Order: sequence, then structure tokens, then C-alpha cells
Amino acid sequence: MTRPSLRKRASRLFGQWGVFFRGFVEEPRMVGSIIPSSRFTINKMLAPVDWQRCEVFVEYGPGVGTFCQPVLDRLRRDGSLIVIDTNPLYIDYLKKHFRDSRFHAVHGSAADVIDIVKAHGHDGADYVLSGLPFSTLPDGVGPAIAEATHEVLRPGGAFLVYQFSAKARDFMAKHFRRIDRGFELWNVLPCQLFWGWKDAKD
Ligand SMILES: C[S@@+](CC[C@H](N)C(=O)[O-])C[C@H]1O[C@@H](n2cnc3c(N)ncnc32)[C@H](O)[C@@H]1O
Repeated sequence: MTRPSLRKRASRLFGQWGVFFRGFVEEPRMVGSIIPSSRFTINKMLAPVDWQRCEVFVEYGPGVGTFCQPVLDRLRRDGSLIVIDTNPLYIDYLKKHFRDSRFHAVHGSAADVIDIVKAHGHDGADYVLSGLPFSTLPDGVGPAIAEATHEVLRPGGAFLVYQFSAKARDFMAKHFRRIDRGFELWNVLPCQLFWGWKDAKD
């Protein structure tokens, strides 16, 4: 009884990792990692989210969707998860594998988050999660994304960022007065975690 289900799970896992790895080989600077995030990173990153007040959750750079199911598992029934990735390979994969009506996969850049959120009928987002490799993005893209993210967030919301280096923090610091910081060792590679909070006066 357990064998077929184990086999199914193993093939799904390697299928997912295979697609992720292919994306890395094709666009190494845009993907920035050869292995998806660990469950330790996922749990720590999402821990401060107030799911009751989260109507719109946006994710930048979902890749093959490592965070998507954990977010959907926590998200309200009337919530929306909008994921944005520049790689069409990943967006096609996500559209095939996530059938949840709250899930919306968009092929585009995080820099266009304001228009993308509006196009989905919302005036802003409660939380934005980023797995973008800020250190290797083309010049100017990181600062533009940090600015657009601050603008799209509703007061009380937060920008959740994980990255191997602390580069993202430099971009966040221009817009977010309060940035909490964490670290996750159990990840390939160990990574830095940041939570930039948008307060009511911002
Ligand atoms: C390190 S991977 C993230 C992997 C995944 N979130 C995880 O935790 O396993 C970075 C992702 O960012 C995407 N990306 C790079 N630049 C982007 C941009 N400007 N807007 C949206 N996605 C982008 C890449 O295509 C890739 O899927």
C-alpha cells in the first residue's frame, strides 16, 4: 500500500527539482540557487504572518512553488495568492500543478507588482514574499522592486525576504523603517531572513 504512494511522491519531488534545476541552468543569475528552499526556511519565514488579516499575499520568484502550498495551507478561504516569476518554464509548471482557485500565477517581473495586483482586482497587498536573488539581478532592478513593494503594501503589512546574502536589506532599508532579521542554517545554502514592516505612518 505504501509503495506506490512513496514512488509517486518521489517522482513528484524529482520532477519538481528537475524543473527547478533546468531553470537554473538556463538563467543562473536570475534563479541564483540550484535547490529549492527547505521547510525550515519556509516555516521560519512565514511565522510572523497574521493569516486572519491577510487577504492578498504576493510572492516574487516562486520557482517551482516551494512556498506556494505552505502559503495556501495557511491562507484564508477568501484570500488570494498571486505569484510572479520572469521564467515562463516555472509559470507553466505552476499553472499545471496548482489548481486552487485562490492561486494566480503571473509571467512577469516583480517590478510591475502594482499593476499586477490591480489587474487582479485589489488595491494593495497584505504581505509580499521574495525569493529573488537580489545580489545578481540586473542593475537597478532590486531598488525598483523594493520601492514598488513598499508602495503596494497596505499599512500593517510586511515584505518578507530570504536570501543567501544581506544585499536585499540595503534596498529594503530605504523604504522600511523597521526591519526584523533572522537566519536559517538548515537550507542549501544557509540564508538570511528579513521582515520589513510598513507602518500606518509610512
Ligand atoms: C532562488 S529562485 C526562488 C526559488 C523558490 N522561491 C524557493 O524558495 O525555492 C529565484 C526566482 O526568482 C525569479 N526571478 C528573477 N528575477 C525576477 C523578477 N524580476 N521578477 C520575478 N521573478 C524573478 C527566477 O526566475 C527564480 O524563479
